[in-house]
Amino acid sequence: MSSPGLQGAPLPGVARLDVDRIRQDFPILHQEVNGHPLAYLDNAASYQRPRAVIDAISHYYEHDHANVHRGVHTLSHRATEAQEAGREAARRLINARERAEIIFTRGTTEAINLVAYALRESLRPGDEILVSQMEHHSNIVPWQLACQRTGARLNVVPVSQRGELCLDEFHRRLNARTRLVAMAHVSNALGTVNPVAEITAAARSRGIPVLLDGAQAIAHQKVDVQELGCDFYAFSGHKMCGPTGIGVLYGRRERLEAFPPFQGGGDMILSVSFDHTEFNELPYKFEAGTPDVAGAVGLAAAISYLEGIGLEAIAAHEGELLRHATQAVAALPGARIVGEAREKAGVLSFNLGSIHPHDLGTVLDHQGVAIRAGHHCAMPVMEFFGINGTARASFAFYNTHREVDQLVAGLEVARRMLA
Ligand SMILES: Cc1ncc(COP(=O)(O)O)c(C=O)c1O
Repeated sequence: MSSPGLQGAPLPGVARLDVDRIRQDFPILHQEVNGHPLAYLDNAASYQRPRAVIDAISHYYEHDHANVHRGVHTLSHRATEAQEAGREAARRLINARERAEIIFTRGTTEAINLVAYALRESLRPGDEILVSQMEHHSNIVPWQLACQRTGARLNVVPVSQRGELCLDEFHRRLNARTRLVAMAHVSNALGTVNPVAEITAAARSRGIPVLLDGAQAIAHQKVDVQELGCDFYAFSGHKMCGPTGIGVLYGRRERLEAFPPFQGGGDMILSVSFDHTEFNELPYKFEAGTPDVAGAVGLAAAISYLEGIGLEAIAAHEGELLRHATQAVAALPGARIVGEAREKAGVLSFNLGSIHPHDLGTVLDHQGVAIRAGHHCAMPVMEFFGINGTARASFAFYNTHREVDQLVAGLEVARRMLA
């Protein structure tokens, strides 16, 4: 049963989603798990895919597959075009200036590692990488590795008890030694939407490049890298209805051109001899080896699908689900919401009394509700809040208020069993 009144009015000019119709596009959602209708609320970990994405990948393998770039035959041309259509779709989605600024990677993690690897060349002892306390391990460990090799250090901007970035501290810590600012656009553990426009403006006014980890933002709001003014933006296909195994590093042309190659191999070269190798132009300089063409095809289909629904309408719907879930979970005895930023995406992290989050997750699974439990690859911010982990429900545009009610009912069961 949905909760009348909590759904709120749609934002002016933003169409309300027809979620029942949208759900028809997602075959996986229509099943029972442990005797209950599946309520898939683990979208921050990975999205489900609409039929359009699954069909696009099948069509590619059934009709067009060959290796790209190197072939003179028709299928190779088709595969190359499909790959480049994926790149163009990604460019359009984030409004990059040109396709050459879109590097295909395996995902957000590899995109960040690419930048960290390249930056190693120029880091010196005493240099600093500015990160925040709420980062995913993918936006901590690559910088730690770079620091270990070079004598540079991490400078960590703290978060407040609400789970917001301490902006005063950010401005104070941005200094003449800062070589890069690397921040989450949206925190996967807390749901906090960071003030990234202010962050990039401050850094760029001092000539410091900014990398934004967009893994949790890309499917939830309109991202415009030119408007944001960032130098790098990283995201994963599987967190936006696309396939696993493909993601994007957006990089400003001048920054990417200054970088050395990441991996060596086919496609990233123009000519090779045993004395000298001439590297290929952007973006291929960073794409050694046979690429994930089917991934690019699926990504293009996912982007078209999201654009068809509309990112503003998606953000509005997820905001309503988050408000509903936050009110209902907060009302449960012993509930503690972890992450109460004023600006949040559809992520609800919480604990219920002393019940272990894994136990909550297990009982919920028996009720058909899929959530995530643990540290969410963000151990430093869990430590800040003095906890080992949380239960996390995360919402997508295909989720319903009925599913939020199913979550809350499942939590009541868990509380009665375990409290
Ligand atoms: C904020 C954030 N950054 C990075 C990642 C890593 O993404 P991937 O595992 O797709 O590379 C995640 C995944 O959960 C994330 O939430």
